[in-house]
Amino acid sequence: MKLHELEKNARKEIEETATSEELEKVRIRYLGRKGKLTEILHSIGNLSKEEKPVVGRVANRLKIELDQLILIRKKNLEESRTLGLEDLSLPGRKPTIGNLHPLTILSEEIINIFISMGFSVVEGPEIETDYYNFTALNTPPEHPARDLHDTFYLKDGRLLRTHTSPVQIRIMEKHSPPLRIISPGRCYRVDTFDPSHSPTFMQIEGLWVDKDVSMADLFGTLKIFARKTFGGDTKVEFLPGYFPFTEPSAELWIQCPFCTGKGCSVCHQGNIEILGCGMVHPNVLKNMGYSEFLGFAFGMGVERIAMIKYNINDIRLFYQNDLQFLKQFNESKL
Ligand code: DAH
Repeated sequence: MKLHELEKNARKEIEETATSEELEKVRIRYLGRKGKLTEILHSIGNLSKEEKPVVGRVANRLKIELDQLILIRKKNLEESRTLGLEDLSLPGRKPTIGNLHPLTILSEEIINIFISMGFSVVEGPEIETDYYNFTALNTPPEHPARDLHDTFYLKDGRLLRTHTSPVQIRIMEKHSPPLRIISPGRCYRVDTFDPSHSPTFMQIEGLWVDKDVSMADLFGTLKIFARKTFGGDTKVEFLPGYFPFTEPSAELWIQCPFCTGKGCSVCHQGNIEILGCGMVHPNVLKNMGYSEFLGFAFGMGVERIAMIKYNINDIRLFYQNDLQFLKQFNESKL
């Protein structure tokens, strides 16, 4: 019998069992000492050299799957017996369905906003070199961001990226402008968990490089992002900032959605900082050989956006796998 036919029959028979005794019979028929699948597994030795690994792999995987299916079915049958579910007049039990993690849902939402503005999604590695994470981003050796306390280093000198900005460099190295990319991903910093810090967090990086990109394009693009994320009438403000890889640098602030600008414990005098951005530093462009181009870049923490958008006061909630918390975020509710 062909393996996939055997699989189909076994799955169907397991599913159709109504009692533990019936299930045990099915188990013996397929997985018992003389079971159909057991016999196939025993006869693998007689197959040709080419067939052996292929059939072996499929048959062994199938054995594991059937074992699991039987276990699950057994549990279900036992549960329904103790609950008296043979009584067909009882209401059915709703199966529990998982949902995407809130950070995944929000990341996708943000990414879609930028896709609608012509950005493409790219990803970079979480283990980086000093060059991509710092040097190529115009971060001199004495810069505090390089401090051992901030960065997780590996024994071989590489490091866990502290931000998604190195993806900018990887993209500029491989592709020539015009470039318009967005790059989501996980980052790491030496921090202990507290309500506003986590040693791991998600960022989304953006980069637009072309002949005539201006600060106005940067502001316009991020304004659209902020309004689509926090609501159409959100008050948006750009303040000067500092990042080694942008010049000039800016911070995007929005009016605090909790106190609507009056001032509260969450915000800074009625406003909240959302992200960092700026025009790509001429040194960065020069290193990439793009002196005749201009660009803007931005980077945001997804947890931070989520905390502001959903009024969450503790970043640790995203990493504790508490179902009561996570279940509030099924897609239809967001
Ligand atoms: N990489 C910065 C951080 O982790 C965020 C950032 C700021 C990214 C400005 C940028 C930018 O691309 O232009 O804090």
